[in-house]
Amino acid sequence: TGLITLDDGYGNTGSCQSAITFIDGEKGILRYRGIPIEDLAERSSFIETAELLIFGELPDEEERTEFRHLLSENAALHRDMRKHFDGFPADAHPMAILSAMINALQTHELHDIETTDAAHFKYAAAGLIAKTRTIAAASYKSHIGQPIAYPRYDLNYAENFLHMMFSVPYRDYEPTPEVAHALNMFLVLHADHEQNCSTSTVRMVASSGANMYSSVSAGVNALWGRLHGGANMAVIEMLEHIRTTGITPEAYLARVKDRSSGVKLMGFGHRVYRNFDPRARILKDAADKLLDAMHVTDPLLDIAREVEQAALADDYFASRRLYPNVDFYSGIILRAIGIPLDMFTVMFAIGRTPGWIAHWKEVTDNPRQRIYRPRQVYVGNPLSQWVPRSER
Ligand code: CMC
Repeated sequence: TGLITLDDGYGNTGSCQSAITFIDGEKGILRYRGIPIEDLAERSSFIETAELLIFGELPDEEERTEFRHLLSENAALHRDMRKHFDGFPADAHPMAILSAMINALQTHELHDIETTDAAHFKYAAAGLIAKTRTIAAASYKSHIGQPIAYPRYDLNYAENFLHMMFSVPYRDYEPTPEVAHALNMFLVLHADHEQNCSTSTVRMVASSGANMYSSVSAGVNALWGRLHGGANMAVIEMLEHIRTTGITPEAYLARVKDRSSGVKLMGFGHRVYRNFDPRARILKDAADKLLDAMHVTDPLLDIAREVEQAALADDYFASRRLYPNVDFYSGIILRAIGIPLDMFTVMFAIGRTPGWIAHWKEVTDNPRQRIYRPRQVYVGNPLSQWVPRSER
């Protein structure tokens, strides 16, 4: 093992070459296929962004129309897939349902997706993006005991998700333009983030030659953890805790700084961004605007602002260059829209699906792809003796 260099958590390992997303952590720059995130968040639809990530370029009118049709045609789950929902307990976590259902999709869909067959791949990619939304909304509807709502042709992706979540028989939910815009922006901002934990997981699984559904399903599981996508739920739980206990932000931060507590400031810190997370800036502004437009106030937004201010003024966080990340303000937006807390990480997964597909394709398209197989530094016993059970 003398030749192996330990890089704990792969902090300094370039695991692949990728042409999908660029990040400059020092300058707070994020670009999808070279296009600044600020432009995409404000101007692009989530599906246009998905096409950009997966196929490499913004779609023209014809490509956009074709993909829209593919999404619509592919949104419904196979009848037999519905039975799976009945098998989950009513309080099953929607992330467990999502990963299981995406993995199960392969049993009903096209079996081997050839990225070399462009039409075949496009069909499968659109199907997965459309069905991720269907599965998420259907898991919510099953949970609350309501019939599943079907997508409408006249709505865009984000609007359709809200319709499938909140419409009830004979009364369609009509999102305001502000709500639809905020959700679209949320999805665009989550669509890709180069070699984060879940995307690296997707690439690792893909590198063995596994199919798109298995690879993306593995990504959902990696995203679930509280240090990754699960942080958006954990942030709200933290802010609720501060609100209900009345603890001051400073006192809460003191608990975080006491390393023996094991408490982290959720929604803060990032492996790559060392000065600010551009997504957090956009979302903070968007949360303000959305609440204003909806004429609602959320005490958690005020607490979030106070915690952020206190942390930025504190040497512990400043010296470690810890700033709010994408998960710090996104939950405020999801709450305002009416998304239940246990679905926050599912929302992240819906957003990240195009990124995962793009990375799966990049790995699968590469004829010289090597299997991901890191090495280790062994620290166990060098040699132990086998002893018969009676003598142990
Ligand atoms: N609260 C308190 N201390 C922190 C935090 C935090 N949120 N984040 C990092 N630190 C400390 C850490 O303890 C370490 O201190 P020291 O050098 O004294 O040991 C130092 O800052 C460097 O942190 P690290 O753990 O080496 O950083 P990392 O790159 O391994 O981890 C992270 C990145 C995002 C997992 C981490 O910052 C964290 O746990 N944040 C809270 C969870 C969170 O918000 N996750 C969402 C990440 S962004 C979107 C996503 O991926 O989903």
